Amino acid sequence: MRASKVDLLIAGVLTLALASLWLSWQTASPFPGYWEFGSFILIAVILDQTSLPLRLSASGSISFVMHMACAILFGGYWGGLAAGISVGLAQTWERVATRKIAFNVGQRVLSVTAAVLMYRTLGGHFPPAYLPSTEGGTLSLIQVDLALFFVFAAVYFAINSTAVSFAIALTSGRRFREVWSLNTRGVIWYDLGASILAMIVAWVFSKSQQSWGFGPYGLFFVIGPLIVVRHIYGLYHQLQHSGQELLQVMVKAIEARDPYTSGHSVRVSEFSRTIAVELGLSAKDVEAIETAALLHDVGKIHEEFAPLLRKEGRLTSEETALMQTHSTKSADLVGIISKFHGFIQESVRHHHERWDGQGYPAGLAGKSIPLGSRIILISDTIDAMTTDRPYRKRLGLDIVIAELQKCKGTQFDPEIVDAVISSVAFRRVITEAARTDDSALVSEPRSKRVSRPMASIWRVGRF
Ligand SMILES: [Fe+2]
Repeated sequence: MRASKVDLLIAGVLTLALASLWLSWQTASPFPGYWEFGSFILIAVILDQTSLPLRLSASGSISFVMHMACAILFGGYWGGLAAGISVGLAQTWERVATRKIAFNVGQRVLSVTAAVLMYRTLGGHFPPAYLPSTEGGTLSLIQVDLALFFVFAAVYFAINSTAVSFAIALTSGRRFREVWSLNTRGVIWYDLGASILAMIVAWVFSKSQQSWGFGPYGLFFVIGPLIVVRHIYGLYHQLQHSGQELLQVMVKAIEARDPYTSGHSVRVSEFSRTIAVELGLSAKDVEAIETAALLHDVGKIHEEFAPLLRKEGRLTSEETALMQTHSTKSADLVGIISKFHGFIQESVRHHHERWDGQGYPAGLAGKSIPLGSRIILISDTIDAMTTDRPYRKRLGLDIVIAELQKCKGTQFDPEIVDAVISSVAFRRVITEAARTDDSALVSEPRSKRVSRPMASIWRVGRF
């Protein structure tokens, strides 16, 4: 069922790409020359070899700069062909699956050609008036073409991100809006900013053509800066990755301490993410809640909790009181990382507050409890019910739902309970989690789950 939808998407994208390419061909400029055209493809293929993984099942490179520059100089038809050929070559070289190659070639060709068609329809000139080799480029014409360049870039990114998000949504079972939010929203300005590189590449090529009669010479001057830009983003990526590894270390440490909660933090984080998405929260909030849920019990790493966590029987009232300090201790530990101050830290601190004010540590009630804490409490309880305990087997979905209903308005936020109960996605996540071996969940790489938005100069890739 899912595969056929993906096939339809691929067929749709390829059809649109061909139609857009055919329309572009109607107004195509003469062939720019083997060296001129080939140099763009060559550099784009090289840039595609240095792609980096993205947050959700995708990767990206800055090869789009060359595709856009080619389109600016030679028009949509040649730009689209350069994009299609270079993506096809690069991905064949990387032995990407044929269907993915077909999709990625199609979406890149469509993005470039449709963006140029929009540029021309709105009155953009070819070649653009801002290029040095263009004669009669008055200031007003230059201003129009510069402004329309950003329309061109916006259309390019809109088509690219929509197509890739659809593909990821279909193959991952996530909602389109969620995928689009995580991979695109909030970083769209980086995309537009990065596209200026394409204008610079086109300008340098044009200048070189004018001065030396051979544009590709100019590309030597832009390869250096492009490699530097790629390197900077590579460093940024490494920094993000080390932050994610630190989180994993923290989670592993707490789970080593507490033998009965192996995989617990990861599952609570996954449940919390699903609830947050179900509530329609922004991608930023979803991510913050996910991180808070992952770290909610990290304070249990303190030595004083070790004997309590290992104790088989019931805790005494003193031991219970001591155990209840874990949420504050978790918040203190989380607060060591400055970017977790505020929402994440407070969500961790209050994850045992109850809707009726009978929880701890502060006895907050209702909506004065941070939203993240209200979500984590429900996720925490659901995970406790849906995993085997030393004293009982895991409970079925019906019993879990009945229990949530029973505690709605006393322990839990009623609105969140309603959202959970009516959520198909949530039922699926619980069922999958129940089926998955705990140790497998612990070792599941979390990098994509907890990463911060990467400047999406890398996003415009493929899935
Ligand atoms: Fe806790």
